[in-house]
Amino acid sequence: MSGRRPLVGVLGGGQLARMLALSGHALGVRLRVVDPATDAPAREVADHVCADWSDPAIPARLADCDAVTYEFERVPVALAEAVARRVPVWPPVEALAVAQDRVHEKERFRALGLATPRFRAVDTLADLQRAVAELGLPAVLKTRREGYDGKGQRRLRELGELPAAFEALAPAPLVLEEHVAFDREVSVLAARGRDGAVELYPLVENRHEHGILIESRVPAPHASGALTERAHRAVRALLDSFGYVGVLALELFQVGEELLASELAPRVHNSGHATIEGAVASQFENHLRAVVGWPLGPAVATGPVVMLNAIGALPDARELLAIPGAHLHDYGKEPRPGRKVGHVTITAPDAGELEARAVRARSLVPVVHAGE
Ligand SMILES: Nc1ncnc2c1ncn2[C@@H]1O[C@H](COP(=O)(O)OP(=O)(O)O)[C@@H](O)[C@H]1O
Ligand SMILES: [Mg+2]
Repeated sequence: MSGRRPLVGVLGGGQLARMLALSGHALGVRLRVVDPATDAPAREVADHVCADWSDPAIPARLADCDAVTYEFERVPVALAEAVARRVPVWPPVEALAVAQDRVHEKERFRALGLATPRFRAVDTLADLQRAVAELGLPAVLKTRREGYDGKGQRRLRELGELPAAFEALAPAPLVLEEHVAFDREVSVLAARGRDGAVELYPLVENRHEHGILIESRVPAPHASGALTERAHRAVRALLDSFGYVGVLALELFQVGEELLASELAPRVHNSGHATIEGAVASQFENHLRAVVGWPLGPAVATGPVVMLNAIGALPDARELLAIPGAHLHDYGKEPRPGRKVGHVTITAPDAGELEARAVRARSLVPVVHAGE
């Protein structure tokens, strides 16, 4: 690979691939993204192979890449395996397979000694009734596979709601989780290189609405050193268990000083976007450095940051950028309610100034949910 610019293939051409490509431009890493959409957000900054996921030609179209990665979790495992027979695929396909099934994901957490919300696999209405009898209400019924941004989930509060919730999500395999009355949601991102070196990003505080991420704060305010340390141990255990290469995100519920592992994402993650302005080496840069086999950069924070997702519409650039420390990221997507079309990162010299700037920005960054 030395002497020429590495070429990385990416399954998926959304905003995560776009930000990987932007980072790759600076580093001298070229990207080729595969995405069925003619208007895939990454197409403006990377080579675009426009192909359906069922297209048998995809592995051949990536055969000259130095490494292949993926930016979303619904990549068919059989496709990732077919690509991996020609070119190294990172993160390992095993991590993709585990992340695609909420039950396997939680079983992996438990096998590593990480606490999770209590859960039961559910295939029939009788399973659901038994699971509710064991776990109690409220609870959350989810499809085991294919869910994202809160899609494929039903909150259960009363026994009478069971049949309708089951009907709405069945016949897909389901999982029932106890509803966790968490103090807050946090996430932790880390990168692991091909040599096994690990970089750990600071703990992130996340706020979701209707299951979709609205706002992240880094470092998570008032996080004790012990809490961050526990999150770091958890993500490191996961990385090592997969022989992982690339960036991994772990979503957790914080209850007091306890952490419950909720979800893993074997890819760069929305709660890590603030690392572009807020860390020495961003998640995008480190993901590329990892998959091409280069040394990782420091994950240390350069200062406190707030990240606001623009959902359904973008803020007015002139108004927003009048705020000092405001950084706008426009994904080039057609705006639609419930769709992440961009994000804003706010930097500031201190926590007080950061809050003042974030309040101003909050009033300008749209959040338009689907069905509103
Ligand atoms: N068991 C639970 N208890 C409380 N809140 C939950 C639970 N499961 C999900 N949620 C809420 O819904 C959001 C999305 O759920 P998650 O399991 O992360 O699915 P996805 O992000 O794949 O849509 C979470 O971030 C959290 O706000
Ligand atoms: Mg989630």
